[in-house]
Amino acid sequence: MLSKQMTQALNDQIASEMYSANLYLQMGLDMAQDHGLQGFSHWFMCQWAEELGHALKIMHYMMSRGADAKISALEAPEKTWKDARTAMEVAYKHEQMITRQVGDIMKMAKTENDYGTECLMRWYVGEQIEEEDTVRRIHAQVMMVRDQKSGLLFIDKELHTRPEPAHFHDYH
Ligand SMILES: [Fe+2]
Ligand SMILES: [Fe+2]
Repeated sequence: MLSKQMTQALNDQIASEMYSANLYLQMGLDMAQDHGLQGFSHWFMCQWAEELGHALKIMHYMMSRGADAKISALEAPEKTWKDARTAMEVAYKHEQMITRQVGDIMKMAKTENDYGTECLMRWYVGEQIEEEDTVRRIHAQVMMVRDQKSGLLFIDKELHTRPEPAHFHDYH
């Protein structure tokens, strides 16, 4: 059985992952609508699906532990980016914050001797290494080309090659 505070922490993390999904969805829309960058848009849309997966994984875990998973109201993402570079910056900072949250839950699991949650959070620790690394690399490339449109279009083309999540094609 999960502790009351762990149940709360995991429900908060579900909300964070679902907020992440919305954040990247908004970025995905903006990249296509405002900047004509279909590849960046596609990459963010794929990320949206991945974030929903992160939320689902916690829900499944909670159900298997007999804990109540709950969906909470989400705030709309605030548009603090103005182009692909600043969107990647915001995404990078956001993922660093998620990493800290994952660390806090891991710490709580260790203090409570909650080995099940510790095991789950190990997966998220690894996932966050991947997320931060990917976003940092894309951001570094965007910084490299700065205002050269041809360079940006090259990265855009590259990002378009990200494999789509299963069933993604049914929606467009
Ligand atoms: Fe995530
Ligand atoms: Fe990932």
